[in-house]
Amino acid sequence: MTPIPKLPTLEKLKWVYSLVLAVFCVSAAVWMIRSDGIFQISSLTYPVLQPSVTPTVAQNMTAGFKVLRGQPASLVRVNGSRTLLISAYLEHRTRTKKVLVIAIMFRKEKVSLQCSLRCREQLHVSRASVDIHWDHFGFPYGTADVSCPLPPACQAPTHVAVTSAAIRNPADQSDMEYLEVWNQRALTSFPYTFTSCFSTMYNYTNVLQLVQSLEMLQFLGVNRVVIYKMNCSAETQRVLDYYSDKGLVEVVPWSLSKYLNVSRRAKPDQDPGDIHYFGQIPALNDCLYRSMYRSKYVALHDPDELILPQLVNSWVELLPLLERKYGVNKCYKFENNWVPSEFALTPPAPQTLPQLDRWQNVSGVNILNHVYIEPAPRKPVFNNYKIITNPRSVYSVTVHGVLRSQGGCAWTDRRIARMYHVKPRGQTELKPEQLIYDGRLLKYSSRLVSAVNIVLRDNGLLPKDAM
Ligand SMILES: *[C@@H]1O[C@H](CO)[C@@H](O)[C@H](O)[C@H]1NC(C)=O
Ligand SMILES: *[C@@H]1O[C@H](CO)[C@@H](O)[C@H](O)[C@H]1NC(C)=O
Ligand SMILES: *[C@@H]1O[C@H](CO)[C@@H](O)[C@H](O)[C@H]1NC(C)=O
Ligand SMILES: *[C@@H]1O[C@H](CO)[C@@H](O)[C@H](O)[C@H]1NC(C)=O
Ligand SMILES: *[C@@H]1O[C@H](CO)[C@@H](O)[C@H](O)[C@H]1NC(C)=O
Ligand SMILES: *[C@@H]1O[C@H](CO)[C@@H](O)[C@H](O)[C@H]1NC(C)=O
Repeated sequence: MTPIPKLPTLEKLKWVYSLVLAVFCVSAAVWMIRSDGIFQISSLTYPVLQPSVTPTVAQNMTAGFKVLRGQPASLVRVNGSRTLLISAYLEHRTRTKKVLVIAIMFRKEKVSLQCSLRCREQLHVSRASVDIHWDHFGFPYGTADVSCPLPPACQAPTHVAVTSAAIRNPADQSDMEYLEVWNQRALTSFPYTFTSCFSTMYNYTNVLQLVQSLEMLQFLGVNRVVIYKMNCSAETQRVLDYYSDKGLVEVVPWSLSKYLNVSRRAKPDQDPGDIHYFGQIPALNDCLYRSMYRSKYVALHDPDELILPQLVNSWVELLPLLERKYGVNKCYKFENNWVPSEFALTPPAPQTLPQLDRWQNVSGVNILNHVYIEPAPRKPVFNNYKIITNPRSVYSVTVHGVLRSQGGCAWTDRRIARMYHVKPRGQTELKPEQLIYDGRLLKYSSRLVSAVNIVLRDNGLLPKDAM
């Protein structure tokens, strides 16, 4: 968890205030202190740099502000605009430091935005610049970077409010909705080695595959999985709670459909709506920044996609190989291999797994039953890969790969690592004999079976005596 930045100066100020208040109480009339004392203390301690903005000073310094704590995927609507704010992060890597607010904007709207940056108890107003990502797939809304340049006197704002410049600042500053600014410090050592970002879980019921994926990811070296959740079955929720308690999973509620008509598909002609595929792209960008100073590497993929190394057994061993071969500080792309779940592991299969009918009552796909991949398409398809990257060398990401980065991406040779995408493929012309056996996953099967059994049993999805 990124620690919620404390406000030590506010604490101090409260202290000073109490002290001075006590002294005044002894010597003077109480009503005078109420009217002047408070303001004097604030102007003594922190000269007002923006005279147009009255600092909000109260006994409880946070009381005057509506602060949205906790999950920064707060989905705040900007008054007078169709813009939705997702989260705010301090950007340490640009020549001039700034606050990056990840947002969703209506592409046709001409709006000029302004930032109210809160440093200690003061507000600094600056003009925002807006960059709408080009990967909007033709939907009316797109992901946007709202950049708030930092004035010299406010280099580490704790909170930011974004408002429409056309609407006068609310006379009462306390009406503004503030986002907490995350990534206050550019750390160089990280609590997690690998974080996986699962974007936009919707109507999710595939419990077995989820548990299998989360256990596999741990074998590979992943110690954090951030999941943007719209909704799921009660059993899935139980499993998510279980992994959240263990510290593996961080669920970010993703209630975008309250604000927008999210499309369930990747293109407007497949399913019209306001924004591409459940708002997956802003979620992935949030995950990138959220993980930037928490995780050495970040992987962007879905729960049904598994990147498996072919020469070594974990990502921990894989990444040094890739860094030697392709260079450091970049993103590595892994070739997609379709594993149609319509085709099961059937005799004469190279291995049979007698335990598996134990899971027959658990809803979802059993990936161990699906180890036949589709032959490579005649023309190579290079648009459905997924990535693992150093997040600190990337500025923005998209569904497949990076949009802006320092080092670009390198293709991983499929003999070193490849991705398996296990899902129903729908209508297919493929005949079983055209599929290609790829049993790499089975190298993990005995460990996977025991680990999954434990989780299912702990969650009441298998009988207690099942082992
Ligand atoms: C300050 O006010 C906020 C909002 O009214 C409240 O949630 C918080 O508990 C208060 N903090 C203290 C230290 O009194
Ligand atoms: C939005 O701005 C308008 C115009 O300033 C104001 O009348 C209205 O109360 C504001 N609404 C909210 C929810 O802040
Ligand atoms: C949710 O998933 C279930 C089972 O997979 C499916 O039958 C149903 O149509 C889906 N509902 C929506 C609203 O997508
Ligand atoms: C998820 O939400 C959709 C739309 O509201 C609903 O139709 C579906 O049943 C929900 N799925 C689950 C698993 O609760
Ligand atoms: C979604 O679209 C429907 C039909 O076009 C419309 O009635 C509804 O207001 C829209 N909802 C949102 C949240 O935009
Ligand atoms: C699955 O459920 C059925 C019906 O409740 C039960 O008879 C069967 O024993 C269960 N199978 C397993 C492996 O738990």
